[in-house]
Order: sequence, then C-alpha cells, then structure tokens
Amino acid sequence: MAGEVSTDLERELGEMLEQERFEPPAEFRERALWSDPAVYDEAAADPEAWWLRQANELLDWEEAPSEGLDDSNPPFYRWFADGKINASANCLDRHVAAGIGDRVAYHWRGEEGEERDVTYAELLADTQRFANALKGLGVGKGDVVGIYLPMIPEVVVAMLACARIGAMHNVVFGGFSAEAVRERMEFSEAKALVTVDGARRKGKTAPIKQQVDEHLGVLGTLKTIVVVRHAGTDCPMQEGRDRFYDELLEAADPECLPEPMGAEDPLFILYTSGSTAKPKGILHTTGGYLTGVAATHRYVFDLKPESDVYWCAADVGWVTGHSYIVYGPLLNGATSVMWEGAPDYPSHGIWWELVDRYGVTILYTAPTAIRTFIKWGADIPAESDLSSLRLLGSVGEPINPKAWLWYHKVIGAERCPIVDTWWQTETGAIMITPLPGITATKPGSATTPFPGVAAEVVGEGDGEPVEQGQGLLILTRPWPSMLRTLYKEEERFVETYFSRFGKETYLVGDAARRDEDGYLWVIGRIDDVVNVSGHRLSTAEVESAIVAHEKVAEAAVIGQSDEQTGQAICAFVTLRGDTEHSEELVEGIRAVVAERIGKFARPKRTVWADELPKTRSGKIMRRLLRDIAEGRALGDVTTLRDPSVMEELEAKIGAYEDED
Ligand code: PRX
Repeated sequence: MAGEVSTDLERELGEMLEQERFEPPAEFRERALWSDPAVYDEAAADPEAWWLRQANELLDWEEAPSEGLDDSNPPFYRWFADGKINASANCLDRHVAAGIGDRVAYHWRGEEGEERDVTYAELLADTQRFANALKGLGVGKGDVVGIYLPMIPEVVVAMLACARIGAMHNVVFGGFSAEAVRERMEFSEAKALVTVDGARRKGKTAPIKQQVDEHLGVLGTLKTIVVVRHAGTDCPMQEGRDRFYDELLEAADPECLPEPMGAEDPLFILYTSGSTAKPKGILHTTGGYLTGVAATHRYVFDLKPESDVYWCAADVGWVTGHSYIVYGPLLNGATSVMWEGAPDYPSHGIWWELVDRYGVTILYTAPTAIRTFIKWGADIPAESDLSSLRLLGSVGEPINPKAWLWYHKVIGAERCPIVDTWWQTETGAIMITPLPGITATKPGSATTPFPGVAAEVVGEGDGEPVEQGQGLLILTRPWPSMLRTLYKEEERFVETYFSRFGKETYLVGDAARRDEDGYLWVIGRIDDVVNVSGHRLSTAEVESAIVAHEKVAEAAVIGQSDEQTGQAICAFVTLRGDTEHSEELVEGIRAVVAERIGKFARPKRTVWADELPKTRSGKIMRRLLRDIAEGRALGDVTTLRDPSVMEELEAKIGAYEDED
C-alpha cells in the first residue's frame, strides 16, 4: 500500500498520524442535530424511558407503546410490547400522507449508466401491488419469503411488501451461490422466493434464475418463484410455480392496507455465519428494530432529509443494507443513491462520478473499499467534484489509521467528520460510534457506545471489567434492535450469546481494547468467524465446502491478515491417497467453494499439507496454523500429537512467502 501512495501524500498522512484526536469541525457542530453531550447522560439516567421516547418520536404507531423494556424472561427480551406498528407504513405511507410523496427515495444507477429515480409515492404504489400479489399467492402473516435479487429498486419493494402483510423476508446476498440460497430456503421453510432473470456484474450477465432452478431441487414448502425481469436473460419458467413480477404487479389490486403488527412480531430473518458450518438465522422483530435503525440513522449520520443525499454503498443482502439502505433511510424520509454495480466498472472513478452526479452529502462504506481506492491512487477521486460531501462513515471491520486518514484527507478534504460504526447482524443497528457533532474521533477507534447502549471490555478469564487494556467485548444492557432469537434454534441462541457471562450479558464475539479515555478499539473476532472484505464467513463453512471436493481428504481454514481485504481465506488441505497436487486442483477447490457458498469465500491461498496439526484426541489445532500464517512464534504446542507436522508446514509457508 505504502508504495502506491504518492510521496507527498504519504508524508502528509504520516504527519497527520501524529495527531491523535480530531474534534468535530465547528461548522459541522453548529448545524448538527445533536451537539450537546448531555444526550449521553439523559439516556444513561433512564435508558428505557429514553428509548421509549425515541420510539414515539421517530415512528408512527397504530397503537403507541406504553412501556419500554420487558425483561421478565432474560435473555428473551421484549421492547414496546403493547405497541402496534407496520414497518412499510412507516417507511412509505406516512411520508406520502405528509405530502412528500414526490421526494426521490432512490436515485438508482445501473451498471451501464441507466438512471431511474424512484419516489416515495412510486415505491408505495408498487409495494401495495406486490403485497396483494403475495397474498394472492397464499403468502400471509408469519410466512417466510426468500429474496435473492441484485441491487435494483425491486428488492426494496419485495422487502416492504413482505413487511406490509406481516411476512418475514429472508434476503440472501446476491454474491451467495444458488446452493447457499437453497440451504437458506430450506432452513427457513420459505414459502416463496423472489429472484431475477439475470444479474449484471462488470459487463457480464449471470443467469440467476437458471442457476436457482439447477440447485433448488424440490423443497416441500416452496410453492412459488417470482422472477423480476431485469437483465433480459432467457429463463425457463415452470408452469404452476414460476411467475413474472411485472405480470403479477399489473394484475394486482392497487390498494393494500398495512397489517397492524405487534411490536414483537418478526420483521425478518437474515442468515449469518457463526462458529459452525450451519448459518444462523438472526431474527429481528418490528418495533424495537425500527426504533434502533431510525434513531441511529438519523443521529449518527446527522441526517437532514430535506437537503441530504445519502449513499450507503453496501449490498442490501447484508445487514448494513437492511438497516442503512432500506429501513433507516426510508423511515427518516431520506433520498439515497442505489448503485447496481462494482467499484471498478465501468471505470475506477465511478463512485466519485456518482458522488458528483447526485451531490452525495453522506457516504457510508467499508474499509476494504477505502483500501482499494488507496491502491488505485488519489488522482482518481481528484477527477470528480466531491465538495458536496459533509460526512463519511465506515463499517464492517476495523479501519486501519492510515486508511482512516486517507479517507479523511483525500475524500473528505479534512472537512468531513468520520463515523466509524461498530455493530453486527445481531445488534440490528449501530452500537459503538462517534456522534459527529459531539465526539472527538481517533483514527481506528469506533469510540464509545451510542446513547442508551452499554458496552464493556472484560477479562477473558474472570469476566471482570478491564478499565484499560484488552479483553472481550460485551453489551451489558438490552437494546431495542437486538436479535430476539435464532430462527428455529432457540437453544443455540442462548448458548451462543448468553451462556458465557449469564443471561443478562450479550457476548459479542469480538476482542476489544479500552484506552485511557475509555474509547473502544475493536480488534477482531474471537471465534472461528473471519471477515473477508467485510463479508462474514465461518471457517467451518468453508472447510465443509472444500472437503466436498472428491480429491480432498481434510481441510483446515483460517483467516490470514490481508492488506486489501482485511482477512483472506487460507486453506490447509490434505489430499486423498496419492493424489498429486496441482494448479488445476487449486482451481477445482476454489470452484467447489464458489458453487457451495459463493465466489467471495474462495481461498486466496491453498497450502498442501501431508498432515494437519492435531491434538492427541484428533482435533485440528487451527491456532497453530494461524500462528505460522501470521509468521508468529508458535503458541503452546504441548497438546500436539506430532510436532514434526508443524516443522514441515512452517517450511512450506516460508517457501510460499518467498514466492510472493
Ligand atoms: O467483528 C466485527 C466486525 O464485523 C462483525 C459483524 O459482522 P456482520 O454481522 O456481518 O455485520 C457487519 C456490518 C455491521 C463484528 O463482530 N465489525 C463491524 N463493524 C466494525 C467491525 N469491526 C471493527 N470496527 C467496525 N466498525
């Protein structure tokens, strides 16, 4: 990275690195929605009442809740339980009723330069029709609907149509394979799946519907597949099961009243990786989730819906997209940018052209993207006018101070505060973050919990709070947008998050450090979850894909530090019998992983191992593999069955490094 940054810029960033704190610019603070630190004290004095106030101020309830938290049965917390609300009515109807139906909800931009502005009124019209269409297909309250779509406005319509009738959406990221879709439809017993004829990616088109057909097989519960015609790809349609989205919309009744939902009725499921190969179905409910995302979206991004143009450059298929492309911005009546494509197509400058074209004021992205832009060079963003930007956000993985400073200087022209937001699929909304008009930031630290949220760092062994230093990150107080359970796996929910420190303490799964000012620095996962370009993956999931290859006997997967992607998948593989290793085999293994999970999970590096390091009882010691992959001295090896295995692997890793 260092070599790519021009020497002058490198020197300037080096000098900035000396500066430890960045105060909110006075001009920003003066106009910020929140500029008085008293908000933290107000929330801390009575968090429950404070959240109840947010719920009532930011949302439009059919029946307003009278109570905040019900903690009578931890860890099964309930929020605003006697309230009634509909998510789609809050995202759409109330804005149209308030006379802002003509406001653009999304400036959509297609890969080939197509533009479509979708207003709140248009979204509402399509959502009502699609909600009726779903009803007509037999989908009702409590049913699960799978959504496997690219970044097109129809994905929002599909999600909100589910919410309108009380069905739970189960969105699968477009980068997952059709096989991963099948698995998630099966686990959730989805009744319908909404997908697309084809998805465009960097000038090519993938035949999505055809791939879905090839993998889906017969799922007893899945009765309908709805196909959005987007790329013009020919696709087979199965009589009696498959329907075109546009035809359904046209035939549907235009009016569909929103179903009043209990605050604790489920809104959606989103599968994410845990320590085992089986993904976890994170379940979010309605009232608390909406409160959490509306409040954080408004105050973390200091959103002024009349004047801001907001762009969260994530994919709707991840939680960031759910909370900060769909629900948060729509609840707050924001105008967003939705970009169909990749950052490098049709050119390396496309993002900055979009910022310029739409006058983006708030940009929210991931460190991995920033590192890629650093590699491409500061002259590329310099070709566009970025002066509309006033606030920058980061999410998904720790941001290294160098990338933070580059973002601050090259993109934000030292004028825009940066909010480094820490949260998870499970937390639903941002938990640890600066408030841009209040908090002095330190590059690389997500700073302190959002008002009403309580986090601590505790010792790994004793669970005692660490005042200064490293330990495990925990959340010590329930918050409205927290997951309620793992879909159909209640025991796993309690076991994963609430067994280590009891039913009142949420175990995050990240290690963190607290500095002398009480600022939090998130370090990374403590479990077998890796973070590749902000994509969360379980090593066990990748291992089980690799061993599906006919020539593979065993595999151990670890996350290895990577300058570009944060972590990269490194696979140690032993082959069956006397199979010779070859480049072809490497590609074969990568292909199996792409097929079973998705291209983003393919190993970057494959190390052939005659044997894997194991304990006497036969457990693979991934810890030692991580040590050699990071070039560290080996940790405790006393439980290792055969120490010579490590010597051989170390020699191999060394050889790989010489090649690099
Ligand atoms: O390890 C943390 C990392 O991403 C994990 C959550 O992943 P996921 O559920 O996919 O959600 C990602 C987007 C919210 C966390 O356990 N992570 C997320 N944001 C940050 C982060 N690590 C450091 N700093 C962040 N800002």
